[in-house]
Amino acid sequence: MDQANALRGRIRQREEEYLSNNFSKYKNGGRSKLLAVSSGKGGVGKTNFALNLAIGLLKQGKKVIVIDADFGLANIEILLGLSPRFTLLDVFSGDKNIEDIIITGPHGLKFISGGNGLSSLPNINSKQLSYIISNLAYLDRYFDYIIIDTGAGISDSVVNFIRACEDIIVITTPEPTAITDAYSLIKASVDGFIGAGGLNFKLVVNKVDNTEEGFEAYNKLSKVCEKYLGITVCSLGSIPDDANLVRAVKKQEPVTISFPGSASAAAIEKIGFEILDIKQGPEPFGIISFVKKLVGIFNG
Ligand SMILES: Nc1ncnc2c1ncn2[C@@H]1O[C@H](COP(=O)(O)OP(=O)(O)OP(=O)(O)O)[C@@H](O)[C@H]1O
Ligand SMILES: [Mg+2]
Repeated sequence: MDQANALRGRIRQREEEYLSNNFSKYKNGGRSKLLAVSSGKGGVGKTNFALNLAIGLLKQGKKVIVIDADFGLANIEILLGLSPRFTLLDVFSGDKNIEDIIITGPHGLKFISGGNGLSSLPNINSKQLSYIISNLAYLDRYFDYIIIDTGAGISDSVVNFIRACEDIIVITTPEPTAITDAYSLIKASVDGFIGAGGLNFKLVVNKVDNTEEGFEAYNKLSKVCEKYLGITVCSLGSIPDDANLVRAVKKQEPVTISFPGSASAAAIEKIGFEILDIKQGPEPFGIISFVKKLVGIFNG
């Protein structure tokens, strides 16, 4: 029994050394800014926002990739009318390289289907992990922004995901149920989490009748977050309820492409400018740090 324990201990030590060596290679390689798009309540507009934000940033000359990490449903594929053959799971199983699974959509938008990939990360072994890291390092080198559509709700996988991120864009609508669910998501993410101070929550209020309604929703949420959680939530603005967006969804096209002059497209573009204005630290966070946090490895 003792021998078995000692053996396990040695294997673990070797794994840790292996990881540490492989991570340190990429220590200074990150340059992409990771933006997670999340919500408490489903159906509030995450996927549309993520896609249109990406197109807005692309139009500003940034290199952008969107990762669909909505574990249940492959939303982005449907909204873009694309059907990728391979997903992150094919990279994680070692069958594909990251370049093989990136597909190109409208305006040269790059997109990766997550499959169930990112949620199963914590369960993989060190060898697989270092293969994944070396593949993901490619994204850090080539993209300015990595936008991740996380899916809705307060499941462990979404909460872990958020905790591994630096910037989290929370989408809500002005409906009280959506605001309450957004609060619950933020609460679940920060409660008992030692790194809570490093999380930057930014709110987008979608489907508003007017900007006043957006302000009110933001004020409500930010006040309770301040009061009960002691955290500051920033405002990224609001997006009007817009029939053009619904028409675009029916055409399986992002509204910023189908109806670039529409109210919702203009609002999302404005949020893109806000994001471009946000001052970054000396070194962007990058996807490697994200994966390291996701699997709970901080060495390297
Ligand atoms: N600004 C808007 N104006 C009008 N309708 C909107 C707006 N944003 C989203 N919608 C409607 O809400 C629907 C859901 O949007 P979307 O798929 O982006 O939500 P989601 O949060 O990603 O949903 P899920 O939680 O299921 O992934 C859209 O198909 C569209 O009909
Ligand atoms: Mg979605």
